[in-house]
Formats: sequence, structure tokens, C-alpha cells
Amino acid sequence: MTTRETRTDPLAYLAEEIEQLRAQSLYRPLRVMSGPQEPRTTMDGRDVISLSSNNYLGLATHPRLVDAAAEATRELGAGSGAVRTIAGTMELHEELERRLAAFKHVEAVLTFQSGFAANSGVIPTITSERDLIVSDELNHASIIDGVRLSKAGRAVYPHKDVDGLERVLREAREKGGAKGAYRSILVITDGVFSMDGDIAPLPGICDVADRYGASVMVDDAHASGVLGRNGRGTIDHFDLHGRVDIQVGTLSKAVGVLGGYVAGRQHLRDFLVQRSRPFLFSTSHPPAVVAACLAAVDVLEQEPERIGRLWANTRFFKAGLERLGFDTGISETPITPIIVGDSAAAGRMSERLFELGIFAQAVVFPTVALDKARLRTIVTSEHTRNELQACLSAFETVGRELRLI
Ligand SMILES: Cc1ncc(COP(=O)(O)O)c(C=O)c1O
Repeated sequence: MTTRETRTDPLAYLAEEIEQLRAQSLYRPLRVMSGPQEPRTTMDGRDVISLSSNNYLGLATHPRLVDAAAEATRELGAGSGAVRTIAGTMELHEELERRLAAFKHVEAVLTFQSGFAANSGVIPTITSERDLIVSDELNHASIIDGVRLSKAGRAVYPHKDVDGLERVLREAREKGGAKGAYRSILVITDGVFSMDGDIAPLPGICDVADRYGASVMVDDAHASGVLGRNGRGTIDHFDLHGRVDIQVGTLSKAVGVLGGYVAGRQHLRDFLVQRSRPFLFSTSHPPAVVAACLAAVDVLEQEPERIGRLWANTRFFKAGLERLGFDTGISETPITPIIVGDSAAAGRMSERLFELGIFAQAVVFPTVALDKARLRTIVTSEHTRNELQACLSAFETVGRELRLI
């Protein structure tokens, strides 16, 4: 009889793959935090200044969010107990969607369990084999997966290249009719690109899309809470209200909690409620999450000074890194990569910084191209100048040790 001891492990190839990743310096261990998500926290037992969270505005530990979550849990329980379409829609869920719709100046919003679920849920739901999706080559993995799940035709345009986008749309038109042979064309871009921190050229994208009758979808995960009035995102930043058909936002980054949402017209929301698989087949947020998100919208409206501090810290930190001679790429936002190139060097740099009490995560292939390994940093509104100065001093020490500057 086969026993646990004699049975050959049919998944043994995974261990071999892991060994290969280690040999190529591409294996990423998980750092474990024992404190809350704050600028100073404890990771793997070491006190560190963290430069790698997406908690841009410090809302993850904001007392108003924490109190709202605790109160909702006491009143309504720890879980929602069902998917939204069966018995899992609470008044709180709809209240949050109404608040977000008003905040984003759109007709309607539908929330999802995460930003990932929102992207991968909306794209295949609203497209079919009769449609074409045109996507920026550096769009987020959740967009790429959403496109893979769709039966639509697909094309990729070079990063932020509006002329390249137009070439793709022209080719589609040449296949016949304004939109070619397609029922619809969906142009998708990140608002802020998550690895380089650069901003999509949305006015140009909207102009080209309009000329070809295409709709536009923007993933504003890293712009929500960061760009636009009170953190309304890139559409507000560029004053493009009414010209972007689908906005995806996350509640997991600057908003400080968890979740994602799709914002747009009422019929978009209504259709997603009927057909979007992550919405239909996955349990809704617990009351604590929803109540904390509602409190976060209040904070965004009432404490805009947090966004001011975020940008002041961003300018200070970027200027310091650039003065030291680091390559920070093309970032225009608080996401600041320190591009090292080689994944082994990025890993070494992150390790040495960690020894000096700074957590700056190395990002390597496949998240970025093989020769574009980097440390990806994000300062928050809550870092003090002393903390940022300590980070810069450590970057200088390690940069010189590793001959990067
Ligand atoms: C551009 C972008 N879109 C979507 C997501 C997914 O958001 P969430 O973490 O809420 O699933 C992320 C987060 O990694 C992201 O960077």
C-alpha cells in the first residue's frame, strides 16, 4: 500500500523550480510584521522604518477608521455570511457605493473584494469575441489577467505611447467601419503605473479614443487618495470627468482598508451585478471593512492636509535620492523606484538596508523586466523628516558600499 512515506511527490518539480529561482536571486522571502502598518514597525523581529507600504496617507491605523471598524463589528458581526447577490448585501455596502459615486462624480459604483477582483472581474464581463481590448504594455497584472479571461481580440500598445495607441486603433478601423469589425473597443491603462510611478497621458488617450469611438478604462489604484482634489484620482487631476467610461479604484492602498471598485454609468454597475463572476461568486466584505472605508472617505474629504504632507515628503525624499546620484527612473508620484538593474544587486541592497533598519523591498522579474530590478519605495504622509533623513543616510552608506553611486 502506498503510504505518505513511500508515495512519490507528484509536485516535486515545484521544489526544483524554487531552487532555480534561488540560484537566479529571484526568490522572494516574505517579511513578517509584528506591529501595525506604520512608518516605524517591526519586521522579522527588527525595528525598521518601512518604505514599502501602499499606506500613502496613514489611514490603515487612523483612529476614525479603527473605531468605525470596531463599532460595525460589534453591531453587525464579523462576517457578511453570503455573496452580494444572495444574502450578503447590507445597507452599509450600498451606502459605501453611493458615497464613492458622489466622491468620484459618477452615476454608480460597484465594490469588489479587492482591486484585483475589480479589474479581473470587469474586463471579461463587459467584452466578448465581438470586441477588441487595447492595453498599455505596462498595465497591472490584474488587468492582464482580466484581458486573458476575456474572449475579446487583444492588442498591446507601447508604454504611454498615444501615437502607438492610435496606430492600433487605425489598424482596427481598416478592418471595416469606425470601430473596424468590432462591436466595441476598450482602451485600458493604469492611471499611475505601479512599478515606475509615472502617470498615464490620459488627455491624449481620451482624445484618440474619442476619434475612434472607443471606450476608456483607467485603473486608478495608485492615484486614489494621491492625485486630484482630495485624492479623487487621475480623472480629476486632468479634469476629464465624463470622458473615462470605467474607473477602477482600490480601497486597499491610500484608503487604508481592503477592496476595489468600478465607477461609471448606472448600466455598467447593473450589468456587473448580473454577470461579473468575482461579484457573483465570492462573499462580500465584512461590515468592519465597509465601515472603515466609509470613514476613510470622510477623512479624505476632511483632512486634505494629509495629501499635502504626502507630496511634501515625496519631493524631499526624491530630491535626496537624486542628489545622492541614484537612478529613480521616470517617477512623477510617491512611488519612487531606485533602479539597480541586476536582481542579485537589488536583493543585496535591500538586505543591507534592512540590517541598517530600513525596509525597502526589492522588486525583481517577473514583476519588472529582468534587467530592471529595483527597490520600490513609497513614502507616506506620516513619515517624519528625521525618518526620511535616516533613510537617505542609509541609502548613501549602502549605495557606496555596493558601488551604485
Ligand atoms: C495598478 C494596480 N491595480 C490593481 C491593484 C490591485 O489592488 P488590490 O491590492 O486592492 O487588489 C494593484 C495592487 O497591487 C495595483 O498596483
